[in-house]
Amino acid sequence: MESLLREWDGDSVIFRFDRLCGAWIIIAIHSTRLGPATGGTRMKHYPHVQAAVQDAQRLARGMSYKWAAAGLDAGGGKAVIAIPPDLGPPARTDLLRRYGAFIHQLRGLFLTGPDLGTTSEDMDIIAENAAPYVFCRTPAAGGSGNPGPFTALGVFTSIQVVVEQLFGDASLRDKQVLVQGVGSVGGELIKLLRQAGAEISFSDVDPISIQHFRRQLGLQFVPPGEVYDVHCHIFAPCAIGGVLNEETIPRLGCRAVVGGANNQLATPQDAVRLQARQILYAPDFVTNSGGAIAAIGMETGGWSPAEARERVAQMIKSNLFEILELATQEEVPPDAAAQRIAERRLA
Ligand code: PHE
Repeated sequence: MESLLREWDGDSVIFRFDRLCGAWIIIAIHSTRLGPATGGTRMKHYPHVQAAVQDAQRLARGMSYKWAAAGLDAGGGKAVIAIPPDLGPPARTDLLRRYGAFIHQLRGLFLTGPDLGTTSEDMDIIAENAAPYVFCRTPAAGGSGNPGPFTALGVFTSIQVVVEQLFGDASLRDKQVLVQGVGSVGGELIKLLRQAGAEISFSDVDPISIQHFRRQLGLQFVPPGEVYDVHCHIFAPCAIGGVLNEETIPRLGCRAVVGGANNQLATPQDAVRLQARQILYAPDFVTNSGGAIAAIGMETGGWSPAEARERVAQMIKSNLFEILELATQEEVPPDAAAQRIAERRLA
């Protein structure tokens, strides 16, 4: 734990042990240089506290880069709530209320929104105590709602940019796209891909989602163990992080990786591994920034949902074009080019 805290390049990590249910609340503040630290609240079970701290740190760092690359005045932070495996719904709701009170005590040092394991309905509960530091409450409660569709739109736009770069034409007709994870982002991405005429396959671990996408939509299901061996044009990771690593990259049969998950690369070295295999990797903190951009735009910039859709698509398209161009010019992986652009702003 000590070395995790020593070696991190961020600002601070705040801990709270929730005695009543045995959860750990960990808030990583990576940078407040561009504005108040803003990032989602991830809620899940972790094998041990260190794993939760490391996740919070990496996700907070990703948020600093996400905001900087998008040109928005917000800082990087992330909350992780490491819950016991058997937390029931009433205990979970009570925990969210106590978490809200904790956020309120921080008086705006950290602003939050949904992430893996939390929803807009959860933001309503947190905001009972933590308003005005909570984004993406339900529209009924005065918030901008689920950011998933906006994140999905950004990923979809990124896929178009990459397809144009690789094949000279942005049309997705007959392009094979594999979507890993059909949750609030992957599920919405599939809708957009269908409208665009792509050939879609998907993977997930949840039996109900698998059933839905397979039976109702007639999509091809790929068992989780085979995801990294599928031949396709685009692989779109929309679930967990760390999926691009030493073990999976040699197996990949895609031309590009463009997805919605945070921290897709296990290590920085993996960007180089992908480049060596001539697989174009679109940096995750750019492709998945749509939800965060839309939430801030709608709740602090007065954008309508239609305007948010337009701006998200336009911003991500021009940012990604700039990144791919810089990568070609400088002969570096797109991830390095994107980091350079973000770091220029953070400096
Ligand atoms: N989960 C979002 C992301 O990773 C975080 C977020 C959403 C932050 C909405 C603020 C508002 O981008």
